[in-house]
Amino acid sequence: MDVIEAILSRRSARAFLTTSVAKETIAEILDLSARAPSGTNMQPWKVYVVTGGVKEALTQETLHCRETENEAHVPEYKYYPDEWDEPYLSRRKKIGLDLYSILGLARENREGMRAQQGRNYEFFGAPVGLFFTIDKHLEIGSWLDYGMFIENIMLVAREKGLHSCPQAAWPSYHRIVRKHLHIPQDEAVICGMSLGYLDEGAPENRLETERAPASEFTEFIGF
Ligand SMILES: Cc1cc2nc3c(=O)[nH]c(=O)nc-3n(C[C@H](O)[C@H](O)[C@H](O)COP(=O)(O)O)c2cc1C
Repeated sequence: MDVIEAILSRRSARAFLTTSVAKETIAEILDLSARAPSGTNMQPWKVYVVTGGVKEALTQETLHCRETENEAHVPEYKYYPDEWDEPYLSRRKKIGLDLYSILGLARENREGMRAQQGRNYEFFGAPVGLFFTIDKHLEIGSWLDYGMFIENIMLVAREKGLHSCPQAAWPSYHRIVRKHLHIPQDEAVICGMSLGYLDEGAPENRLETERAPASEFTEFIGF
């Protein structure tokens, strides 16, 4: 698979087969992904990979807390703005509406949408969950580096026949994640990820997302 093929075939998968993924394969993906550049080669990433009983216990406790004490769980950092304006608002709405429409969920079906959001905490059925943490004292530049590392993981996963879904849904429940995976307090849980083999027949995975063309977000100067 070449890079372009990997980029074009990556999508956020939201239904996986239960087929397991070898620890060695994941270790290889992470070794390759750590070739990502980072300012002064700081390599600010730390990864926790979970499967089996620990993953199941994490899912169960998170889903339980989501039902009983949802408000008490907030992320350690802000991913999204408080005020949404254009073009971000329309893009955000479109992906939600497109996904729910594929799943046959009407706009007023709040319960159905919430249940679909809850699939995040089941890793969408994937056998492996990854959690990414960063030293809390590192600066925004290291977060920039981190995104490159995470994208590498998703692209190398494609080379291995695997799919992924990066998940900002998880940091809200960092206290539970921290407890189950023994993550120290000086690390912030910045993202989760589901990893596994795509369930090709699942409607969720038919979602096609659009991108604005480069001509819309690029200024070519001096050409
Ligand atoms: C850092 C990050 C966090 C994300 N968090 C979630 C999430 O919690 N749940 C989810 O279903 N998708 C999540 N996504 C997937 C985005 O919705 C998706 O990347 C976007 O709609 C574009 O679709 P594509 O990845 O299929 O190309 C996340 C993506 C990124 C990069």
